[in-house]
Amino acid sequence: MSKYTLQINGQAHTVDVASDTPMLWVLRDHLNLPGTKFGCGVGQCGACSIHINGVSMRACMTAVSTVGRKQITTIEGLDAKHSHPLQQAWCELDVPQCGYCQAGQIMTAAALLKDNPQPSDEDIDGAMANNLCRCATYLRIRAGIKRAAQIGTAVAPKQEAAK
Ligand code: FES
Ligand code: FES
Repeated sequence: MSKYTLQINGQAHTVDVASDTPMLWVLRDHLNLPGTKFGCGVGQCGACSIHINGVSMRACMTAVSTVGRKQITTIEGLDAKHSHPLQQAWCELDVPQCGYCQAGQIMTAAALLKDNPQPSDEDIDGAMANNLCRCATYLRIRAGIKRAAQIGTAVAPKQEAAK
């Protein structure tokens, strides 16, 4: 076992775990952040998507020893008020069915919108292709991302004006 101090959702957390422990289990079992879900455990489904330095990554495939001081964001820390444009759009359009995959979907979509605030259908399909949904909510996910892009565009000028 070794001690690791991790930067998660803007706060430092120290855990004492084996070096090959996947971040998925560090988050869920050691830090009580269960929003990151276990789906396949082998990097195939995207249920465990988190951001590492703003990039969507698979927590099940990321050993704790590789993280260092990189900034980790989970669904719990995506927005302080749980009101990220994607979260607003998800509620507005009732995107989830069972909900199990949706935290991973939102995290991958958030990374997309950060880099590409107005994605086309093709951009969305490309970015989201490896996030699986057994309930097949793909059309609502795409609509939700497009709605979030609208909400984000509406919010951004107000934020600029407030500076
Ligand atoms: S649980 Fe990590 S990709 Fe499926
Ligand atoms: S909403 Fe059920 S797996 Fe995606």
